[in-house]
Amino acid sequence: MPLQLSEIARLLEAKGQRQYGREAVSQLDHALQCAQLAEEAGETPQTIVAALLHDLGHLLATERAGEASQPQQQRDDLHQYIALPFLRGLFAPAVLDPIRLHVDAKRYLCVTESGYWDTLSPASKRSLELQGGIYTDEQAQRFIDQPFAAEAVRLRRYDDFAKVPGKPTPTLGHYMDMARALATA
Ligand SMILES: [Fe+2]
Repeated sequence: MPLQLSEIARLLEAKGQRQYGREAVSQLDHALQCAQLAEEAGETPQTIVAALLHDLGHLLATERAGEASQPQQQRDDLHQYIALPFLRGLFAPAVLDPIRLHVDAKRYLCVTESGYWDTLSPASKRSLELQGGIYTDEQAQRFIDQPFAAEAVRLRRYDDFAKVPGKPTPTLGHYMDMARALATA
């Protein structure tokens, strides 16, 4: 069942205050910084909104679990899939697919960009293992041949850099306006 845009905004505003994994920014700051980096890079509104919402699954997962705090990084949380049923009625694949593929994009970048693995935080290296580890060359090719995989790879880079404490960003309203213009419902 699709979420309303107002519910998405509420989730980001309320639940988004919590810390982003082990990083020194909140979930909301991380989402806004990610969207900002996409916007500054000249991405389409679809990719910018995907950047804003790429980790919405984290916020939905805690909502579903009734705030139960899972031991972090014990298992793959599959957060890239959790948001999709809630967003499918609202957005086209140009928004949904980069969200779905942004975790696998890390597995791809570890193969295709030398030194990428070294840049990952210990927490990110650990989650990479839980997410299936580095792709083989063949898996990497199959990955990048999918529609919107290139957007997912770029989103992944914005994701990696969207962890700067105190960085000023446009408002959530700015990006929700963009989402509203794209929403089909
Ligand atoms: Fe993220």
